Amino acid sequence: MRAVVYHGPRDVRVEQVPDPRIEAPGDVLVKITTTNICGSDLHMYEGRTDLEPGRVLGHENLGEVVEVGGAVEHVRVGDRVCIPFNVSCGYCKNCERGLTGYCLTMKDPDGAGAAFGFAGWGPYNGGQAEYLRVPHGDFMCLELPHERALKETDYVMCADIFPTGYHATQLAGVRPGESVVIYGAGPVGLMAAYSAIIKGADRVMVVDRHPDRLRLAEEIGAIPVDDAKAPPIDQVMDLTDGEGADRGCECVGYQAHDPEGNEHPNMTMNNLVGSVRPTGTFGVVGVFVPEDPVAPDDLAKHGDIVFDFGEFWTRGQGMGTGQCNVKSYNRYLRDLIADEKAKPSFVVSHELPLDEAPEGYRHFDARDNGWTKVVLHP
Ligand SMILES: NC(=O)c1ccc[n+]([C@@H]2O[C@H](COP(=O)([O-])OP(=O)(O)OC[C@H]3O[C@@H](n4cnc5c(N)ncnc54)[C@H](O)[C@@H]3O)[C@@H](O)[C@H]2O)c1
Ligand SMILES: [Zn+2]
Ligand SMILES: [Zn+2]
Repeated sequence: MRAVVYHGPRDVRVEQVPDPRIEAPGDVLVKITTTNICGSDLHMYEGRTDLEPGRVLGHENLGEVVEVGGAVEHVRVGDRVCIPFNVSCGYCKNCERGLTGYCLTMKDPDGAGAAFGFAGWGPYNGGQAEYLRVPHGDFMCLELPHERALKETDYVMCADIFPTGYHATQLAGVRPGESVVIYGAGPVGLMAAYSAIIKGADRVMVVDRHPDRLRLAEEIGAIPVDDAKAPPIDQVMDLTDGEGADRGCECVGYQAHDPEGNEHPNMTMNNLVGSVRPTGTFGVVGVFVPEDPVAPDDLAKHGDIVFDFGEFWTRGQGMGTGQCNVKSYNRYLRDLIADEKAKPSFVVSHELPLDEAPEGYRHFDARDNGWTKVVLHP
């Protein structure tokens, strides 16, 4: 089959790889019809992880079941399914509590949690390909409605970014009527803003410097905050009568940079401390890594950042972090889409055939104007 294969920094190629097959009786094989490029893929694409060349990328996957293992009882050939980016078993101590992002069965020996096509999260190939093997298919597959014209570009967002944006607001504890500041207007930040609005938040402020992304934030009813124009803390203070936002979401991660492009991995974290009100809480879903050998400074090489902890403590703030547990939310977000109460495809700017994936990566990585989310159709 054809698949997007990682060869090295900024070098992905569409080439022939062996077809995946049923390896365990719980496996399901899915013919992929829609698969996205994610900001998380870019950390790998840019060579900022230790992903080994030869791996197939892609963790935001939707398709049709074409084969099931002997122990699969629920999922049927022909079902249309969306696959969570986390690979999880459903029965370990963490999965039992809904923490499927930290599955103890499918993980690397020294970790917790696994994902398709991801550095440091197990050996699983991704779905930017014609077919994907899905372990524990009955638990993993989210069934999609039998609509004639399936809203694929909406439902595929249930694999990662819609649940992840929602998770950011859950970690932050967003409640109706509250104000929320979100750092990052990439696909994840936009989904966090969308989720906060769905939850009935009042003022939702989204910080970034790309006009196309800020425009999308405005279109869904958020307040765009351009940090190239003035320090974002000052702008959020002005927008909240000097109080600071009730809640905050970090949707950028360790490659945070200033509008001139210089990296400061602590930038969004300290901006959150400064722009969320005393006793406010935030959710950090932007990725931070324990080792980053090519980081701009020595601390960051080992995943350390200079965090304003004294200020954070004095303000009595709190935070939650980590990978999204997609299975905790995807069923419910799917139903919002089915009933026309959510339309997360508003982030999609480009739908490309699989063969054009390298071009999609190049533009999305450059954050070229208008390239807000790339969807591939194998
Ligand atoms: N926790 C999870 O489960 C999970 C899931 C998916 C993605 N992620 C992570 O979320 C992050 C965002 O993903 P994405 O797809 O939206 O990526 P993206 O790279 O497209 O978007 C990031 C945005 O942040 C902006 N930005 C950079 N520095 C900034 C700063 N200092 N202040 C404000 N904005 C700044 C950029 O301009 C860009 O628009 C990535 O780190 C990704 O790996 C985490
Ligand atoms: Zn993703
Ligand atoms: Zn598990």
